[in-house]
Amino acid sequence: MLAALVGRTPAEWPAVTFTLGEFTLPTDLPLSLPSELVRQRPDVQTAEAQLHSANAQIGVTTAAMLPNITLSGSLGLASADGTLHPVQQGVIDEQGFQCAFCMPGFIMTAVGYLKTNPNPTRRELAQGISGCLCRCQDYDKILTAMMRGAENLRRSKLG
Ligand code: FES
Repeated sequence: MLAALVGRTPAEWPAVTFTLGEFTLPTDLPLSLPSELVRQRPDVQTAEAQLHSANAQIGVTTAAMLPNITLSGSLGLASADGTLHPVQQGVIDEQGFQCAFCMPGFIMTAVGYLKTNPNPTRRELAQGISGCLCRCQDYDKILTAMMRGAENLRRSKLG
């Protein structure tokens, strides 16, 4: 491990024997390790990516344990010709959900909220859909998708 931290292979690292009594601390210790430097390390970035992947897999695995049902996906919002509602299209445009278990609730809540405030700020829409929960905790992407949906809805009413 010490060899890797100084950029050498373990074979290049000389075997060192020491006792704990030989260690002394420098007089000036940094108060903190710059976290941005640590975040740039490839092993830290790999670990972070693995953590994100594992979190997603937990959501998918948990969903797989629940009863398997099939939803139509239209939520009664799509047109007779199959054209999606502008908010549904916003989800497609932004790929706004991870496992999508929470998607119907967010869409229906956003559609209802947008009837009262068709041109919300991001903060207002976040407040408007704040009653919905996402176990994948993908709120930023979801909010981006809902904002796109609001924009789609305004454009569809203009056209
Ligand atoms: S995207 Fe998985 S629960 Fe919301």
